[in-house]
Amino acid sequence: MNERRTDFIAGGGGPLRGEIRVAGDKSISHRSIMLGSIAEGVTEVEGFLEGEDSLATLAAFRAMGVRIERPSTGRVSVHGVGLRGLFPPPSDLDLGNSGTSMRLLAGLLSGQPFDSRLTGDASLTRRPMARVATPLRMMGARIDTAEGGRPPLLIHGGSALRGIDYQMPVASAQVKSALLLAGLYAQGVTSVVEPAPTRDHTERMLSGFGYSVIKDGARAQLQGGGRLTATRIQVPADISSAAFFLVAASIAPGSDVLLRDVGINPTRTGVIDILRLMGASIELLAERESGGEPVADLRVRGAPLRGIVIPVELVPLAIDEFPVLFVAAACAEGETLLRGAEELRVKESDRIEVMATGLRALGVELETFPDGIRIRGRDTLDGGSIDSCGDHRIAMAFSVASLRASDAIAIADCANVATSFPGFRSLAASIGLAVDEHSAPAGHSA
Ligand code: S3P
Repeated sequence: MNERRTDFIAGGGGPLRGEIRVAGDKSISHRSIMLGSIAEGVTEVEGFLEGEDSLATLAAFRAMGVRIERPSTGRVSVHGVGLRGLFPPPSDLDLGNSGTSMRLLAGLLSGQPFDSRLTGDASLTRRPMARVATPLRMMGARIDTAEGGRPPLLIHGGSALRGIDYQMPVASAQVKSALLLAGLYAQGVTSVVEPAPTRDHTERMLSGFGYSVIKDGARAQLQGGGRLTATRIQVPADISSAAFFLVAASIAPGSDVLLRDVGINPTRTGVIDILRLMGASIELLAERESGGEPVADLRVRGAPLRGIVIPVELVPLAIDEFPVLFVAAACAEGETLLRGAEELRVKESDRIEVMATGLRALGVELETFPDGIRIRGRDTLDGGSIDSCGDHRIAMAFSVASLRASDAIAIADCANVATSFPGFRSLAASIGLAVDEHSAPAGHSA
């Protein structure tokens, strides 16, 4: 365990002004390595997110014998080995903080002839894996988990997989993707039905690699035994990272920020819809298509926000953006109510509880529910000390909150910002949001 801890001191600032490109999309970056590795030929990736999570995926495939070069920032060349060309990893695959790596790899590795063992950090080790292990076992996979369906996962190789028709109990792109990846190795058709739309990057990217995926309403299905052909992938800027600046510019009066090349896949744009319902001023400019994904430049200007009841159908489409949306709610006039979001309790932290504790420390009145939260907005937040509990999105959300706080906000345990958004602080500073970093002995409060 690291004896030093990284803390942030967010000193606010604003109005925010300027033009920036946030880090590459995390979901698409993971998938570019996974599909590139099992394709035939060399896949060239641009705009790859050099964050710890996607690099954990990259390291896992290198450990399974895939040659992956990184000639310059954001560029990756993946020398695909084909569906059956992976080698047994010499040791455990340590996926750090990354749930996406673990769940998608569980599917892909279920179809291999060799055993593998997937581990992660303390946060990942607490996260539920039965949601992938159970349907993968129905396909014939042999997977051992620790107690309660938690990691580590031991995946026994050499199982003959068969396609299933699976109705997912939770709206989860990670479960859907794990089953589709296992389906590549299965006999017959693998068919997944989701209870609500979730991000569809796996389906889109498989098509980009020439693998046919049939979409029919809530159902996605594919036939096993095909092949993937290498392609070029341009990773758009991550809307989940852009979200911090969408809220920051909205709550800092007089702001005017342009966020370039942001992925606006309709399965990811819940944050824009929710902020607009709250009164935000967000324009989509130069909408275009890039490598099978829709992209735009987003212009956001400061605007008074009002509390709303968040439409439940938008929840899966904004699932990663709630920490910063709670900050928007804390700065809005009136109350905001979120229900139907129990998934937030099993992310990198329990995001309902950790956000509630932090917002209360800043003087915000709120009430929590098993599946949501009610937040009463204020004109000005207090300064204070909060603990991100090692959750990257919570650290960045409270950095944004400092724009409306009467004093600095000290945020403990922020090193994991590097999992999804390396360069967050310098990009924030470039448009007028000051966040300092210092390293403290572990165990000290921020
Ligand atoms: C992801 C799916 C989402 C999201 C995660 C990334 C993906 O999780 O929260 O950050 O890349 O498929 P769920 O599918 O479990 O909701």
